Amino acid sequence: MKTPRKGIVLAGGSGTRLHPCTSSISKQLLPVFDKPMIYYPLSVLMLGGMREILVISTPRDLPRFRELLGDGSAFGLELSYAEQPSPDGLPQAFTIAEDFLAGAPSCLVLGDNLFYGARLGETIRAAAGSGGATLFAYHVADVRAYGVIEIDDQGAVLSLEEKPPHPRSGYAVPGIYFFDERAPRFAAALKPSERGETEILDLARCYLAEGSLRAEKLGRGTAWLDTGTAESLLDAGSFVHAIQSRQGLMIACLEEIALHQGWLTKDELRATAASLGKSGYGEYLRRIAD
Ligand code: TTP
Repeated sequence: MKTPRKGIVLAGGSGTRLHPCTSSISKQLLPVFDKPMIYYPLSVLMLGGMREILVISTPRDLPRFRELLGDGSAFGLELSYAEQPSPDGLPQAFTIAEDFLAGAPSCLVLGDNLFYGARLGETIRAAAGSGGATLFAYHVADVRAYGVIEIDDQGAVLSLEEKPPHPRSGYAVPGIYFFDERAPRFAAALKPSERGETEILDLARCYLAEGSLRAEKLGRGTAWLDTGTAESLLDAGSFVHAIQSRQGLMIACLEEIALHQGWLTKDELRATAASLGKSGYGEYLRRIAD
């Protein structure tokens, strides 16, 4: 039997663009409207069917994540934790996760990325079920601040460029990446780029070179937001508020996803709701359990 794919949330970094808000607390613990930021990337892994998840953060912040999420059982998950002593690049997630992965394929999602849209779970499950490596491609207004991907009509990757001044396409690579069991080994061999960090696109190039890198467009019906600046954090909060208040349904309610996946019972939801007091999140849990 194939080893089930495991999830990794990378929630370290220094959050310098959000100082002073992040001078004493992790960016990924700040609220995006009514829940901590890390709930959003966690929800994506859960929609993809991943229950064994490693949370990586700084030595300073990791205890707060443990306090918030515990062993994961409240969400039907098995959570583990690991420190990243300094933010030396995204591929480091795989070398840190090597023991946790124990030869399993993985999906890395960045702790400050928010995805939402119709059939997102289906898209994530499809990528999770394929071999080699899979990246997504998402059209953005100004791609120059991102990793940029060029793909042909068949989905073959033609080029990958990190923050290019003259991009070859309008498609950015969002912060969710699927790699097979070789990622820790490839990541350990990467050299830092000019900005002093190892680069996730260099890891993807290991797969591109052997013809096992796939890319899939995330269509217009999917929202991809990142939350690294004051403006984008406010925009993400407003987006979540607008959708939730219109639909009466929550984005990234982890217990609700676990209930749908059959990982939690309604009684377990009621127990969590009771511990959340008068919050809107607690109210919502009570409503879906009843
Ligand atoms: P960035 O937004 O690039 O970095 P940052 O969060 O430190 O913020 P700033 O640019 O304002 O200083 O990181 C993207 C995400 O990846 C974010 O969730 C933090 C995380 N990250 C790590 O956890 N470790 C790392 O080594 C890097 C490079 C990023």
